[in-house]
Amino acid sequence: MSLSFNFTNLFQNELIKTGLNSDLTAYQEIIDKAHQSILKQRKEDILGFYNLPEKNTERINNYISQIDQDFDNIVVLGIGGSALGNKALYSALRIEKGLTKKLYVADNVDPTLVYDILSQIELKRTLFNVVTKSGTTAETMSVFLIILQILKEAFPKDYKKHIVVTTDKDKGFLRQVIKSEGYYDFEVPDNVGGRFSVLTDVGLLSSAFVGINIDELLAGAGTMRDLCATSDINQNPAYLMGLAHYLYMKEGKNISVMMPYANALYDMADWYRQLWAESLGKKYNLDKEEVYVGQTPVKALGTTDQHSQVQLYREGPNDKVTTFLTVDSFKHDYNIPSIYPERDEVNYLGGQTLSKLLNTERLATEIALSKSDRPNCNITFPKINEKNLGEFIMLYEIMTVFTGALLEIDPLDQPGVEEGKIATYALMGKKGYDKEREEIEKILG
Ligand code: PA5
Repeated sequence: MSLSFNFTNLFQNELIKTGLNSDLTAYQEIIDKAHQSILKQRKEDILGFYNLPEKNTERINNYISQIDQDFDNIVVLGIGGSALGNKALYSALRIEKGLTKKLYVADNVDPTLVYDILSQIELKRTLFNVVTKSGTTAETMSVFLIILQILKEAFPKDYKKHIVVTTDKDKGFLRQVIKSEGYYDFEVPDNVGGRFSVLTDVGLLSSAFVGINIDELLAGAGTMRDLCATSDINQNPAYLMGLAHYLYMKEGKNISVMMPYANALYDMADWYRQLWAESLGKKYNLDKEEVYVGQTPVKALGTTDQHSQVQLYREGPNDKVTTFLTVDSFKHDYNIPSIYPERDEVNYLGGQTLSKLLNTERLATEIALSKSDRPNCNITFPKINEKNLGEFIMLYEIMTVFTGALLEIDPLDQPGVEEGKIATYALMGKKGYDKEREEIEKILG
């Protein structure tokens, strides 16, 4: 294990007066019940992400070595779980690994975003990876149609080599397109939902393209999966964090802040935001009773947001649980020079490194929050690499399904998203949505 954890400030101590009692034996029954439900779902092959560490990456690695010389850029056309993990991994490793190939993610139908991406790339040297599990998502398909036309016009004979599709193995419009037009393709497994799919071909293909070692990523995920196999809450960081968040949620702490002290991990907090929000924000429990549960995930960046958010976190409503992400060692660091030895205002900084200041400020914020009785915990990356990121991803995926089991909801569905999709289809004139369009027109008056 490479990540390390500090959970001290989730529990009652000298500063966290209203924290959780560290004796968790009272919860053993609900822990066991949630653990059993996870084991059952794993047996039923519903939680496919647990098996991804054993994934065979040969086909991805072979494809990448075939096309490696042809392209400098990859543009992912996807949204939600088909985009956020790709972005997070690239952002985390781009500078640490000195990646030279570029990843762009078109995860919005904002025309300026599409223009911006197109104006930065050389089309001839760009591969487009269309990623959509359903194969029909309006945002992804509309940008794909635009790109397809551009490519057909630019390279009438070999536009197909610029496109690679990642979608369901049988279902959806895109699968039919692959079959009839013959694009190179990868698959999203049936038993892995969008927001849990970063370690499938969804996230691995673009990662391998830019030079991320995907086998290391999976190895890290495997280490965390094995560590989190036990129902012993004191040995299982995913379960411990899940239980703590669940208990705080029940006390009305309905906001979960993830605050990396590393710009490179900021997009990872965005990935977490989707995972936590879409998985746990539910109206009904498994017995179809109305429960309205969930915890709003918020991302903040240290030290930047100390000058923007921490005032609220310390003195505003005591409704948050904060998770700090710390990086021990950065690839690039700077010594702060002693240019004004006679000036106390800045002389204490001279001779120190920038990373020492960053991590000292992280600790200072932890102390400040704790002094205000605000629960928090810390996850330390010794450095940012594939193995640690794999551990982190698996940690949060397990934590999410465990918390879902404690809440007795289904963390794998997202029925609340449907209404908006249907209204969009109706308003955009999709065939079969006339009734819905009439209803909306009545509402709009
Ligand atoms: O987690 C999910 O299932 C969603 O966020 C999806 O990833 C998102 O809606 C995109 O769906 P698709 O991959 O089918 O285009």
